[in-house]
Amino acid sequence: MTVLVTGGAGYIGSHTIIELIQKGYTNIISVDNYSNSEESTYKRIESITNYKIQYYSIDLTSKIDCERLFEENEFDAVIHFAAYKSVPESVENPLSYYRNNLNSLINIIDCCNKYHCNQLIFSSSCSVYGNSTELPVTETTPLGIAESPYAETKFIGERIIRDAVKANSEMKAVILRYFNPVGAHISGKLGEPASERPNNLVPFITQTAAGLKEKLKVFGGDYNTPDGTCIRDYIHVSDIADAHILALEYLTKTNNNIEVFNLGTGKGVTVLEVIKSFEYVNKLNLNYEVVERRKGDVEAVYANNDKAVKLLGWKPKHSLSEMMESAWKWQQNLLDDPI
Ligand code: NAD
Ligand code: WQD
Repeated sequence: MTVLVTGGAGYIGSHTIIELIQKGYTNIISVDNYSNSEESTYKRIESITNYKIQYYSIDLTSKIDCERLFEENEFDAVIHFAAYKSVPESVENPLSYYRNNLNSLINIIDCCNKYHCNQLIFSSSCSVYGNSTELPVTETTPLGIAESPYAETKFIGERIIRDAVKANSEMKAVILRYFNPVGAHISGKLGEPASERPNNLVPFITQTAAGLKEKLKVFGGDYNTPDGTCIRDYIHVSDIADAHILALEYLTKTNNNIEVFNLGTGKGVTVLEVIKSFEYVNKLNLNYEVVERRKGDVEAVYANNDKAVKLLGWKPKHSLSEMMESAWKWQQNLLDDPI
């Protein structure tokens, strides 16, 4: 089976390539334009797996380059990670988000249709649930109003896939709604690429612990939660990666044309619990302060993951401590061996 991984130099894509190789899927072609990653990620993957990745350095919004990719290879499945993912950036520059995330998806689907690649796995997000009042959220929880252009690209992306699958009876798709992927590969050799402006909680924690940021701001201490801080469903990136291999196996045996799965642990954790876990497992004190709420944050969101457990046979293996330990190991590795 030949698998195209788009966004394979990125955070989740690179971890998924490792899982694919370790599960025996060695015919992998990765594609990336390094808009949020580095080509050297492939070297990191190689050092973990002893396997040399074949890849294209192209932008998937280019129809011509996307066509060339499909002309030169015969893909059985596509795992489509490539997208821009920053919520605040999408608010500042919505058109670039719609252009990048939707045009690349449309090009991929067009090529799948034309070159008879009939299996598609799509990276969606819990952000499609918006500000849900139903907790935990299941796949049938009504989707909310998107809180950002980024979330809207995922909502529309899901819609595009549904319609494309309806129009092509040979095509089958799995949509995976990730909750909050965190942590790094257990080796410490691979993790989330460093950003000078991290938006997400865990990169901010590790950069503060490393002295790259002075203080972590905890956004809001007056929510209606046990300690007043927001609740999220943090899930180890390798568990997310693992679900993609199970989704591939599922696609080869299912008769359903489209299926959606939540990927979260099912357990809601507060921001202060994350900080305490990080401090405890890594024997560190973090400089943090509770400040005002961040605009657009939902109070609490966590998954019901029963469907993925039942139909995919998926079981998240990594604890919150392991997420925090691996994230810190990766941050230290980044300081010693920057990409
Ligand atoms: P990432 O930014 O690390 O990886 C995405 C990769 O896609 C990057 O390497 C980037 O360079 C590449 N890319 C972007 N646009 C491209 C284009 N036009 N052509 C070629 N390559 C392109 O992000 P990630 O965290 O690995 O996320 C992967 C997917 O999962 C994304 O679709 C994201 O929206 C989704 N997702 C991520 C999270 C999260 O918190 N990390 C949560 C839910 C959903
Ligand atoms: C988690 C919690 C913050 C930073 C986003 C996207 C979502 C998905 C995952 C892609 C919140 C708090 C954060 C900080 C803090 N991505 N926080 N101080 O907002 O749940 O979800 O990433 O699909 O679509 O919206 O993740 O990591 O930004 O925040 O207190 O410096 O940490 O308020 O409660 P979020 P996050």
